[in-house]
Amino acid sequence: MVLSKEELAVRDELAAYYEAGRPPWDSGITPPELVELVAAEPAGRALELGCGTGTNAVYLAEHGWDVVAVDFIEEAVRRARAKVEAAGAAVRVVHGDATRLDEAAVGDGFSLVFDLSCYCGIPPHRRDAYAAGVTAAAAKGARLLMFGYGPDALPDLISGVTADELRTRFAGWDLVDVTPGTNPFPTFWFTLRRR
Ligand SMILES: C[S@@+](CC[C@H](N)C(=O)[O-])C[C@H]1O[C@@H](n2cnc3c(N)ncnc32)[C@H](O)[C@@H]1O
Repeated sequence: MVLSKEELAVRDELAAYYEAGRPPWDSGITPPELVELVAAEPAGRALELGCGTGTNAVYLAEHGWDVVAVDFIEEAVRRARAKVEAAGAAVRVVHGDATRLDEAAVGDGFSLVFDLSCYCGIPPHRRDAYAAGVTAAAAKGARLLMFGYGPDALPDLISGVTADELRTRFAGWDLVDVTPGTNPFPTFWFTLRRR
């Protein structure tokens, strides 16, 4: 696999956060938006992309979901696997790339795809591949719950996500809800439904 300059830069930056200790986003708390979904939906097969240290994958498994969780930083995967083992949870943690899900062999038939701040940091030229992989992995009627920050949230040129972008990129999906997050900078919870 040959990675672009942008992918290598993003990967190195993320790896450095994990190597330095506990990254600022690793709250260890499952967001209320996922808690609400889990309370309302019957459990099924869930795919988490950019799972970090596995807090939400374990939460889903503890609520009856059959979970595959993916992250491309080795240290995040190591910590996620330790968390899964400590919880005795049914989660398969895959060291893989969310934009190369075929190579990661995650399987298919997922009724839920969960993404907490992964897609919004992916370089634009890899986002079509992310959408294609997620579309292939999702069952008909599946839900994609995605949290992302807006394009102006960070002072770089590649990160951020908008509702218009998702509408255009995720052919075969309907964007059914956009709810602003509660952060002091622009963030959004997006819900898409696979047709
Ligand atoms: C901002 S962190 C959020 C982590 C986790 N979702 C959480 O909230 O604690 C983004 C995560 O996505 C992962 N990530 C980013 N791009 C990825 C990609 N292309 N494939 C797999 N994981 C990726 C990073 O390694 C990191 O763990």
